[in-house]
Amino acid sequence: MRTRFTLNGESRELETHPMRRLLDVLREDCGLTGTKEGCGEGECGACTVLVDGEPVVSCLMPVAQAEGCELVTIEGLGGDHPLQRSIMAEVGAQCGICTPGVVLAAKALVDAPRKPTLARVREALAGNLCRCTGYEAIHRAVLAAHAERHAT
Ligand code: FES
Ligand code: FES
Repeated sequence: MRTRFTLNGESRELETHPMRRLLDVLREDCGLTGTKEGCGEGECGACTVLVDGEPVVSCLMPVAQAEGCELVTIEGLGGDHPLQRSIMAEVGAQCGICTPGVVLAAKALVDAPRKPTLARVREALAGNLCRCTGYEAIHRAVLAAHAERHAT
């Protein structure tokens, strides 16, 4: 079956089985290995991508559901989002498996003008597990990124 979507701003058209996981299509067919697999069961958030602006776990999404959608993976941020820089500065990553998912899950919070509370940051990242770093540095990084993004 042919599936069409926009991926990091570019139109893509792929011939693939409709029930393949979006995660596999992104990594294997599109060569975008920044999207990671942790649990493969929708529990860890490592495979998070944005689908029409919303964080979605790509290990649970059949590629057919991406038809006509706008997809953004970590590669689409180009390494230049304030949250990517602040995670580095706050040492909010060790092995880095969770990091692309964390960045995409928290991106909307950082981009929105309203300063998030720590509780709101925790809530936004409740579905993103990190086995290495603990969460304090990640939460600090989100708040620092918001401050940088909206500095006047
Ligand atoms: S790999 Fe998708 S939620 Fe864990
Ligand atoms: S940095 Fe290793 S799982 Fe988060």
